[in-house]
Amino acid sequence: MPAKLVSKRILVVLLFCLALAPLTALAADFKSQVIYQIVTDRFFDGDTTNNNPSQSSGLYDSTKTNWHVYWGGDLAGIQQKMSYLAGMGVTAIWISPPVDNLNVNIPDGSGNATAAYHGYQARDFKRIEEHFGDVNNNWTEFDNLVSAAHQNGIKVIVDFAPNHSNQDNGGEFGALYDNGTFLGNFTNDTNGYFHHNPNISDFTDRYQVQYYTLFDLSDINQENATMDAYLKASAQLLQQHGVDAFRIDAVKHITWGWEYSLANSIYNFGDSFLFGEWFGGTSDALYHDSYKFANKSGISLLDFPLNTAIRDVFGSNNAFSEIDSTLTQEASNFTWKEDLVTFIDNHDMSRFLSLNNNNNRLHAALAFILTSRGIPCIYYGTEQYLHNDTNGGGDPYNRPMMNGFSTSTTAYSLINKLGTLRGSNPAAGYGAMSQRWMNSDVYIYERKFFGSVILVAINKNDTTSYSISGLNTALPAGNYTDYLGSLLGGLGITVNSGSGGNNPVTNFTLPAHAVSVWSFVEGAAAPEIGSIGPTVGQSGMSVTIGGRNFGNSGGSVKFGTTTATVTSWTPTKIVATVPSITNGVYNATVTNSSNQVSNSIQFTELTAKLIPVTFTVNNATPTNTGDYIFLTGSTVELGNWSTTWDGAVGPMLPPNYPNWFLNASVPAGQAIQFKFIKIAANGAVTWENGSNHSYTVPSSGTGFVTVNWQY
Ligand code: NOJ
Ligand code: NOJ
Repeated sequence: MPAKLVSKRILVVLLFCLALAPLTALAADFKSQVIYQIVTDRFFDGDTTNNNPSQSSGLYDSTKTNWHVYWGGDLAGIQQKMSYLAGMGVTAIWISPPVDNLNVNIPDGSGNATAAYHGYQARDFKRIEEHFGDVNNNWTEFDNLVSAAHQNGIKVIVDFAPNHSNQDNGGEFGALYDNGTFLGNFTNDTNGYFHHNPNISDFTDRYQVQYYTLFDLSDINQENATMDAYLKASAQLLQQHGVDAFRIDAVKHITWGWEYSLANSIYNFGDSFLFGEWFGGTSDALYHDSYKFANKSGISLLDFPLNTAIRDVFGSNNAFSEIDSTLTQEASNFTWKEDLVTFIDNHDMSRFLSLNNNNNRLHAALAFILTSRGIPCIYYGTEQYLHNDTNGGGDPYNRPMMNGFSTSTTAYSLINKLGTLRGSNPAAGYGAMSQRWMNSDVYIYERKFFGSVILVAINKNDTTSYSISGLNTALPAGNYTDYLGSLLGGLGITVNSGSGGNNPVTNFTLPAHAVSVWSFVEGAAAPEIGSIGPTVGQSGMSVTIGGRNFGNSGGSVKFGTTTATVTSWTPTKIVATVPSITNGVYNATVTNSSNQVSNSIQFTELTAKLIPVTFTVNNATPTNTGDYIFLTGSTVELGNWSTTWDGAVGPMLPPNYPNWFLNASVPAGQAIQFKFIKIAANGAVTWENGSNHSYTVPSSGTGFVTVNWQY
């Protein structure tokens, strides 16, 4: 191609990017978004030419009777429904893994065809699946979808599944390709790309969950330098194609320490938001590990504990106290609770209406996730009351073909109205949540961000109304109409002036199955920070600070006492570059042009970019049940010599007891000092003797260091 043409093309692309910039930028603050989860194959068939591609023919069922094969939905289909999505108030779509998947049929026990229509059996992380894009596995359809989404103000979240490739016992036996070039497979794994362990049987065992096999899926060894580089490059390729955020599949089953470096690699490339799937509840053996991970890794989580409570309370008849206590528990554990992604159902569990075929309950549950703390995620078809109850409606019957695109359902309007509220009242994204009134059927709660307030009242009882007395709120005195305009039977209230943020509400009656929402947005005030993203990074990384009243221009941003370079500034979002300061935890603040200083928000300054290193300590001091060996050391990545469960790195893993190992992400190229400690079940700490171990972290790739416990 002549050089002139090339540069013209580049210019066009550049102009195009500039035109998109205001809409696509700043995914790092996701708190006010409304996510819509799509199983691409089951949404809409926008391109029939890719229904039965030759390299994987026979995996398509035009009659849609075999639920385990492709039905024709594709990226072009999602693109064609973009205005439907935008009209619903959705601001981000999470699409099932779009990359090239298993090409062959692995028949089930009865000889019926099955295929990876869901996307969770990758064969090439650098190409697009032929059933979703085009028959040549090109990126064109994907790029078109991303452009259409961005033009409609919708961010694109890709489901990324770096835990595994495809099945290890059939089909392609885990075969992996790098943009078409064969890398290796599970059965003849000469390069050590995979772990070769049995299926996970004990989901509470830290070693098994990370290093064993999840449902026969070839378990990728992320500590292998080739796999590490391949997976990180694959994520980056998606970013280059405009992806705004990632849902990370099975984060509990990938090597946890390695994931910190994956997050760091993604944030080094550009602005993003990451949330992972960590299945479990607050009483799970690994619950503590889940919030330690969410607090430190830069990866938020899907809120499975709250999901269980929502299904129990709205789907069944449990009392609201179950939701209330789950929220209280999580609030005391999760540093970044407003970043948790909340949902009532998804592709791995029965749809809400299969649980309880009651639209009023569905509306109440939807209103709850759209107004309570966390980022709401709505499973495709919920707005059309889509459900198939075969066998209780679980997988695969929770993935029917989309049944219509009506824009006049109550659920569609509800999502739209509350999506608008999320965009206009900062309390929806940033506000702390508190319960104001509760019985088993009624939940009244408030979100409050400085002077902005949202008060929500839900009565889930199908027939009984309740009189509400003794309700206090932080809403200022005045009359409030129902923000939903009585869409769900709500009403207006009168707030009287009280004291200490407790303004009494005039008694009222909350009708059966009613939801009411009252909103107040405060006027201009001092700068108020509600978000920082990412929450962890090293000098030179771009960080987005979200909030209110920043003003139209600077101002300054400080990390501790050090001023950061600002690269963009609007009244609600500032992008700054992490300054070069000693690693550690800092308070970031914003000062506006009239010298008003904001509240502070926590940021963890890393020493350098992160490299995954596997630490092994042989013949460690004996432990009893409940005692664990931890790693601690000289930088923030190593806990800065912390000796606590949350501060030190670990627990380590003892498959070869009394030898313990753990993969941890540590600063590239740095000379680090470290030691191993035992934290006993009762909290008592035992240090190994001797001087500190030292190690220089490689500047790229992965690392390994093995020492003996010093007696
Ligand atoms: C969790 C996904 O959500 C599920 O659908 C999938 O089968 C497994 N991870 C394995 O990728
Ligand atoms: C921190 C480190 O310097 C380590 O080497 C030492 O063993 C402990 N403190 C305990 O004194």
